[in-house]
Amino acid sequence: MNVLVIGNGGREHAILLALKKSKRVEKLYCMKGNAGTSEIAENVDVDYMNIGAVKEYVSAHPEIDYFVVTPDDPLAIGLVDELEGMGKRCFGPRKNAAVIEASKAFAKDLMKKYKIPTAESETFDDYEKALQYIRKKGAPIVLKADGLALGKGVLICETLVQAEEGLKEIMLDKAFGTAGNKIVIEECMRGLKYTPGEEVSVLAFTDGKTIVPMITSCDHKRAFDGDRGLNTGGMGTFSPCPFWNEKLEKQVLKTIMIPTMKAMNAEGRTFKGCLYFGLMRTDKGMKVVEYNSRFGDPETQVVLPMLKTDLMDIFEAVTEGKLSDVKIEWENGACVCVVLASGGYPESYVKGKEITVGDIGDATLIHAGTAIKDGKLVTNGGRVLGVVAKGKDIDEARNKAYSAVEKINWENMHYRKDIGIKYRKG
Ligand code: AMP
Ligand code: GLY
Repeated sequence: MNVLVIGNGGREHAILLALKKSKRVEKLYCMKGNAGTSEIAENVDVDYMNIGAVKEYVSAHPEIDYFVVTPDDPLAIGLVDELEGMGKRCFGPRKNAAVIEASKAFAKDLMKKYKIPTAESETFDDYEKALQYIRKKGAPIVLKADGLALGKGVLICETLVQAEEGLKEIMLDKAFGTAGNKIVIEECMRGLKYTPGEEVSVLAFTDGKTIVPMITSCDHKRAFDGDRGLNTGGMGTFSPCPFWNEKLEKQVLKTIMIPTMKAMNAEGRTFKGCLYFGLMRTDKGMKVVEYNSRFGDPETQVVLPMLKTDLMDIFEAVTEGKLSDVKIEWENGACVCVVLASGGYPESYVKGKEITVGDIGDATLIHAGTAIKDGKLVTNGGRVLGVVAKGKDIDEARNKAYSAVEKINWENMHYRKDIGIKYRKG
């Protein structure tokens, strides 16, 4: 089979590396890709948000058998529907199902209607009414722009002053553009000891009939050590989540995952693809923080390296509605990904810095914002590289990953030094 993966980031590079191991995959393509994907796939220089241009390319390349649409934006505008309309086979939800991520207001309504545990919330499109609600509820309180905002549209406000400023930024100053036309205002969930709750990302394959959780992982969304600074797209991950176990998985399947799959079916929005559950362990049990309609980034970078089953077999089973026929197996041990970012990210940063890479041992370099310029590897985005290492446990994997990080450099490179330390016992 010849497979085209749509997307540019570390997640797509990780998916391509997993597909490369498949016995059934002959040639890989990546639209648009980066310097890393170009080593294992043919990069296709077409803007995937331009549906006309994508269709033109696909018509001209009948040799491509299968399409994997990963980023939230093309899923939200219905790229899967368009490709299926051309008779192509795809992995990824249709537009009417991708809304589970594209609109936080939709996701909250769904959870309310089907009694799926989540933070209490209200949705507003009127600034004055939202302001009154915030003043009534008080701080701490969480503000979320309704639409897609590169993972940055969430403000955790510890004081009322912060909340009022945040509301103005989102609804009046449009800091996240039209994503802020509506706002979800949410109770701030706390953990078992009234500290911020512990979070886990559970990615799941689903064909709408069966839902199979992958191994768990934990993201680090804030820019700086100790979970300080702005929210980012993700600064590093580790797998598995230390507080996860079989009993918890059974409970979450029963109270959250299966009810979500059935709720989407009942709404006439059957979800096929990878459904991402961002969950929090709170003083009142496991609750949903967010849904994503796709593989997580950088969660995928630590989950897929542990997959023993052929990823192409799973993708096709999802497309054909035969997921229950596939036995999905995982390696034991742990995996850590440290994200190397451009200094300044998630705010403004400079691109085009030359990257030097020494001997990184058996770690793997996952490319995100990289490019080749005049024959040299250069930075081309906020999150630039993910350094991924496996070990018998998280400590071993982390030590290997950080040893490899020391061999990589560019001007103003920034990374967190505490990936994989969270939730350690003692
Ligand atoms: P999201 O983009 O919805 O995943 O939110 C980003 C991060 O904000 C989450 O990973 C949590 O750490 C935090 N967060 C979101 N919603 C809440 C909430 N209701 N209570 C506490 N923290 C939250
Ligand atoms: N790592 C969080 C996300 O992919 O949205």
